[in-house]
Amino acid sequence: MNKLNIDKIRQDFVILNQKCNSKPLSYLDSGATTLKPKSVVDAVNNYNSIGTANIHRGLYALSEKATNDYENTRLKVQKFLNANLSEEIIFTSGTTGALNMVALGWAQVNLQAGDEIIITEMEHHSNIVPWQMLCQKIGSILKVIPIDNHGDIVYAEFQKLLNSKTKLLSITHTSNALGTINPVKKMIAEAKKYNVVTLVDAAQAVAHNKVDVKDLDCDMLAFSGHKLLAPTGVGVLYGRIKILEQFQPFIGGGDMIDKVSFAGTTYADLPARLEAGTPPIAQVIALGTAIDYILDIGFDAIADYETNLLKYATKELLKIEGLKIIGTAPKKASIISFVLDNIHPHDLAQMLDQVGVACRTGHHCCQPIMNHFNILGTTRVSMAFYNNRIDIDNLINGIKRAKDFLL
Ligand code: ALA
Repeated sequence: MNKLNIDKIRQDFVILNQKCNSKPLSYLDSGATTLKPKSVVDAVNNYNSIGTANIHRGLYALSEKATNDYENTRLKVQKFLNANLSEEIIFTSGTTGALNMVALGWAQVNLQAGDEIIITEMEHHSNIVPWQMLCQKIGSILKVIPIDNHGDIVYAEFQKLLNSKTKLLSITHTSNALGTINPVKKMIAEAKKYNVVTLVDAAQAVAHNKVDVKDLDCDMLAFSGHKLLAPTGVGVLYGRIKILEQFQPFIGGGDMIDKVSFAGTTYADLPARLEAGTPPIAQVIALGTAIDYILDIGFDAIADYETNLLKYATKELLKIEGLKIIGTAPKKASIISFVLDNIHPHDLAQMLDQVGVACRTGHHCCQPIMNHFNILGTTRVSMAFYNNRIDIDNLINGIKRAKDFLL
C-alpha cells in the first residue's frame, strides 16, 4: 500500500497556506465541507473563464466540450460507485436534494397510507424531515431504530421493526455527529428479506472509504460533491435503474422532456428525465476532477492514514480531564464529538478559532442524537487525509488554553 505524501498533498490545498487569526490554519471541519485541491478550483475556473456554454443544447464546439465534460463526470461517478449503468447516476444539488428527490419523486408515488419507512436515531435532519413531511402528506409511518450509549444502532430493535409493511429503509452510512459507521451491508441484506427498498446516505462516507453500490446491494445512495473535495451545489443520487424508472419527475422544465405540446408532454429517458433545467455545470465537471484526485491518492492509503490520525486524536483528547467523547462505537470514521466540563461548545469554538483551529459546534443537524445523550450540542472534530498531527496538537493546546481561561 502507498503511504501518503502528506507534505505534497497539503501543497495542493492552497487554503492551508493562509493564517487564521495570525495562526496557521488547522482545518478540522471536513464533515461540514472538505477543502478543495487546486485541480478542482482550476476546473471550476476553466469552465467559467474559457469553457462557458450550456450543455445538451448547442451545436458548437464550446457547448459540445461542456456536454462531454459534464457527461464524463457521470461516467466517473458510475465507476467510482461501481454502478452498472451511467443512467443510474443523477446529478442533484447535494445529499439533501437527493433525499428529497427520493421522497417526492419515488416514495410519494409508490408508498401508501400505512406503509412504513425505517430510519435510525442517528440520522442527519435531511434524512428525517423529508420523511416526516411525506408521512404527513400520504399517511405513511416513520419508524426509528434506536441507538445505544456508544452511538451504535441496536440491531435487535432494527430486526423487530422490519415487517411486511416496511417499504423503505433509509439509513446513514456514517454518522456526521458521532462518526459511527453502520453495518449497512448487513442491514440491507436483512431488509431485502422483506423486499424493502433501501437508500443510503453516504455523505460522510465517500471521501474516506471505497463505497461500492454493488457490494452494498443498495437500491439508492446519495452523496454531496462538497464533502468529496468538489464545490458546493452538486450531489449525486445513484438509483438502480428499475427503481429510477419508478420515479415520477417532480421538477418539470427544459432538458427533461421528449415532446411538449398543450395537449400533453412526454418525458426524456433517464437520466435527463430527473435533471430539469440548467444544472451546475462547472460544479459537476469539477466533481469529476475531485474523483480523479482522490482515486489517485487511493482509498487504502487514505483509510490507513485517517485511522491512525483518529487513534492519535482520540488518545490525546482523552488525556484532557473533564472531556467526554460522545460516540464511542468500535467502527468509526475520523470524526470525534465531545463535551468538555460545563463549557458551552460555542465558547470553546470561539477560543479554538483564536488559535487557528476550525471545528464545528452545536447539534450538527442531528437534534435527536443530542436528545439521546441529553446534551445541547458537542464540539466536533472531523478530519481528512490533508490533516496532520500538528493540527491535532494545535487542537489539544487550544482546548487546554480554553479550559484555563473559561473554568
Ligand atoms: N452535514 C454537515 C455537517 O455535518 C453540514 O456538518
